[in-house]
Amino acid sequence: MCQAATIQLSFPEPDIALLSFDQPDKGVNVLSSSVLAELDAHLDTLADRSELAGLILASGKAGTFIAGANLEEFVASLHADKTEIVAMCRRGQTLFGRLSQAPFVTVAAIDGVCVGGGAELAVWCDRRVLSDNPKTEIGFPEVKLGLFPGWGGTARTPRIVGLANAVEMITSGNSIEADAALEMGLASDIAPAAELQAAAIRLIRDEQQTGAYKKDRERWSQPLNISETELGFLGATAAAVVRAETKGQYPAPEAALNTMLEAAMLEVGPACELEAENMSDLFGSPVNAALLNVFFLTTRNKKDKGVDGKAPAASPIRLAAVIGAGIMGAGIAAANIKRGVPVVLSDAQATALAKGARTVLEEASYNRKTKSADVEKAIEITPLLNISQADVEIAGCDVVIEAVVENAEVKKKIFARLEPQLSETAILASNTSTLPITKLAIGLQHPERFCGIHFFNPVRRMKLVEVIRGEKTNDETVVAAVAYAKALGKSPIVVNDGPGFLVNRLLFPYLNESLALLSEGAAIKDIDRAARSFGMPMGPIELYDMVGIDTAVYAGATMWQAFPERVKPSPLLPAMLKAGRLGVKSGLGFFSYDNRKKKAQPDPTFDAFAAKYIEGDRSFTKEELENRLFMPMLLEATRVLQEGIVRDPRDVDLGLIFGLGFPPFKGGLLFWADTVGAPEILRRVESIQSVGKRVEPTQMLLDMARDDSKFYPQ
Ligand code: NAI
Repeated sequence: MCQAATIQLSFPEPDIALLSFDQPDKGVNVLSSSVLAELDAHLDTLADRSELAGLILASGKAGTFIAGANLEEFVASLHADKTEIVAMCRRGQTLFGRLSQAPFVTVAAIDGVCVGGGAELAVWCDRRVLSDNPKTEIGFPEVKLGLFPGWGGTARTPRIVGLANAVEMITSGNSIEADAALEMGLASDIAPAAELQAAAIRLIRDEQQTGAYKKDRERWSQPLNISETELGFLGATAAAVVRAETKGQYPAPEAALNTMLEAAMLEVGPACELEAENMSDLFGSPVNAALLNVFFLTTRNKKDKGVDGKAPAASPIRLAAVIGAGIMGAGIAAANIKRGVPVVLSDAQATALAKGARTVLEEASYNRKTKSADVEKAIEITPLLNISQADVEIAGCDVVIEAVVENAEVKKKIFARLEPQLSETAILASNTSTLPITKLAIGLQHPERFCGIHFFNPVRRMKLVEVIRGEKTNDETVVAAVAYAKALGKSPIVVNDGPGFLVNRLLFPYLNESLALLSEGAAIKDIDRAARSFGMPMGPIELYDMVGIDTAVYAGATMWQAFPERVKPSPLLPAMLKAGRLGVKSGLGFFSYDNRKKKAQPDPTFDAFAAKYIEGDRSFTKEELENRLFMPMLLEATRVLQEGIVRDPRDVDLGLIFGLGFPPFKGGLLFWADTVGAPEILRRVESIQSVGKRVEPTQMLLDMARDDSKFYPQ
């Protein structure tokens, strides 16, 4: 069957051609091999039209230009050999290169997102005109997928905007807005979206008159105009920035930098050859495969409605209520306001409510540029916040999220009081981090409209939300809670009820094992270093301090009650609690925070304090530490899958990446385990069997190792 065309050729004026990208049945344009073939054919057709003054490339979809290459095709080529990858890059460069050699002026007219392959297409044009639409951005996010632009992006961009700007854009992967593009010479003009085509035509007429584009064609095909000294200086500073950012765990930015530095003294042709050659080292690498997986986890999550099969329609949340204006309540209320959802915020204590309201307004009006709250914005959003202690205000809400103290009785009293006042479609939810949702629902008149909506701390930064399904929660409630969390910009995963739900349940064995290691004689710095070198943003011991020792003791008790055979209770934590060593919040925990930036520093008094709880003085290899920390987490994940806590293994990976900072370059815990292979994972688990029952291989792992099967669907 013939595929419908994506690119339409038209002539807005007799001597001006327009190629308009509009992929049928898709919200955005992506550059698949068939779209590239279409472009090639159109350029063939236009090549002979010597009467043409110019060609405009634009999108037929308002507010989005081209969102990059087709990543499914990338995945299909992950195992391609080096020659094939080089050829793939060379094909793209040659095709786009035609835009810089056409017998007429070529202009990309960009409204909306123009990234990845779309940005490469644009930089091969003679000129770019951007719309003033706030959604308009141009950038090269390839490094976020473990790659760099391979269709000429690294060769062409430095020649247009200068090496420093190109290095910044390509190694960071961050997009820039129209103003910044204009300033650095990436854009020639900015126009309202409705006048973009007219601006492009005007530009073509100007260029034909001045011939400036011909001079640029010549200049941009040459080596860069930069001295060896400047090159050396720029290279050294950029390398330091890149290394600080990647910690040596993400090779792509450094490879992109080296490619651009090496190519600086070359003409654009050889620069493209070098780009293709170097790109082939990254394409298909483990980090590239892992980051592509994270991309697909995220896109899958965006589409997931929260239930299997046909999902009922989600009832919209027009008004929300948050009960409890503490750390979490204020954060949740601010998340609503930031997305324009009006919110009623309530608290039993008037002072707590006033403090919470202040936090909400400060956070929702925060201006990243000035790094402070914006008074104008605060005034603008104030009508969205209704602070009240009167239940009558809550009666009209579509969702009520309880975020009061972690005490089942207090929470249940609130539910009993509020539920009769709510409408027949309203959802009642708890932000509890440990209490079983099914038990909290006992006594409710409508347990089917009750669920957990578990945000993570700090709400503004953490994308993950666990939507917890109690035994009686119905599909309508789950679907509405998932849609609501997405409307707040979060990535919700649906989790069946159970101790610690998903993320805290998997966090716990990891944290618990770090204390076991400490008591056996491992040094704090070695334990934390093993976790960091695995890729975790911080070590488990430092994480204890961040979570708070009081919270850890409380949550630990819940896990111990649920899984006594897998928990090694540590007398150290209660002793720390008693001594007021609560972690970051009290300035002293495992580490000391007695400094301006509240950074974890070794506490010289800790060893003496902890001495009586340290039972051994063994030394550990790095491999043993890593296995001790991550194998218990992985074993727990197999139990979570066996118990059906999640609907899909990919939810485990998304939850850990967004909820715990599990390293994206490993693609997720289960993705990583799949790359290691079940037989090798079993060997690692068996290597630590002296630990005892808590690391006993699960049946699932034994079966997988026997069949050499994978967690991910193959
Ligand atoms: P918090 O102590 O900062 O705030 C609780 C607020 O609830 C206080 O302002 C208190 O005055 C108010 N409150 C107490 N009883 C009340 C009642 N009967 N009616 C109305 N307001 C009442 O606590 P936080 O940290 O915000 O935690 C709230 C909930 O969120 C807990 O269930 C906790 O387990 C959960 N959670 C906490 C996280 C954290 O890192 N702090 C993370 C995820 C969930």
